[in-house]
Amino acid sequence: MRRTNLCYIVWFILCSQLLIGMASGKDHGNPANELVDIINENRTAQKLPRLKDNAGLGCMALQYVEECKGNCTSNNTVSCRPPEDDFTEVFAPNCGVELPTFGTISGHIVGCQSKYLDPSQAFSHILVQDKNTLSVVRSKEHTEVGVGLMRTHKGPFFWCILFSSGQTNSTFVLEGGGKGIQQKKGCYSGTSIQCSGGQKIHFLNTVVTVIFTIFFSYICFLFQ
Ligand SMILES: *[C@@H]1O[C@H](CO)[C@@H](O)[C@H](O)[C@H]1NC(C)=O
Ligand SMILES: *[C@@H]1O[C@H](CO)[C@@H](O)[C@H](O)[C@H]1NC(C)=O
Ligand SMILES: *[C@@H]1O[C@H](CO)[C@@H](O)[C@H](O)[C@H]1NC(C)=O
Ligand SMILES: *[C@@H]1O[C@H](CO)[C@@H](O)[C@H](O)[C@H]1NC(C)=O
Repeated sequence: MRRTNLCYIVWFILCSQLLIGMASGKDHGNPANELVDIINENRTAQKLPRLKDNAGLGCMALQYVEECKGNCTSNNTVSCRPPEDDFTEVFAPNCGVELPTFGTISGHIVGCQSKYLDPSQAFSHILVQDKNTLSVVRSKEHTEVGVGLMRTHKGPFFWCILFSSGQTNSTFVLEGGGKGIQQKKGCYSGTSIQCSGGQKIHFLNTVVTVIFTIFFSYICFLFQ
């Protein structure tokens, strides 16, 4: 009888662990959105206006990363210069950005790192390390921002931030009422779609807990 009670208690703990894990997983579903918040906090601390999170711009930032993956240098910079035309001829069509709404790109920052850093560390340790990039973040010209993030297969993590000086709400509009074209890898800001990159550890944790819960239930069942 005692053993059965103990079984229930442990089983209950494992189940609640699982629920907590699932709930907290939702909170940091998309690191690209977190980086946008960090950029805006950094701007508002200087009394600069917040930038609108634009999903079309975010998707193009992910496309930029897609083109530049494999060009990560030893000092976390990306040695990559996509031709100007690629924005309108490759990135926008691949995202489903309606071409007549294509606005002005007023700045970009890219960076890479062999291991995953959370967005605030990526911001201060990779992306915005010197005065030049900080002045890009704090430019008065920008009105919108988009962030793309991807991990190449077993390789480094890439981040790209695109800024635009376009009219908010009417630039980089995604076709299909804002849906655009679904991207295969990585994630971008302006959507609630979860990222496949930074989620690995959390996912593994959940799987281990599920297996352990099932195993323990089985043991309890045997001893009943
Ligand atoms: C390191 O970064 C600088 C630019 O900040 C670049 O000029 C240089 O080539 C980089 N070095 C390596 C080894 O990639
Ligand atoms: C990536 O790096 C390679 C070799 O350094 C270079 O040939 C290529 O042009 C780079 N890709 C882009 C898009 O700049
Ligand atoms: C803004 O970013 C810069 C560069 O990473 C950092 O030195 C500064 O402390 C940040 N400011 C705020 C208010 O977060
Ligand atoms: C953009 O749209 C949001 C809500 O969708 C609205 O609150 C905001 O005022 C709009 N901004 C402009 C510049 O039209």
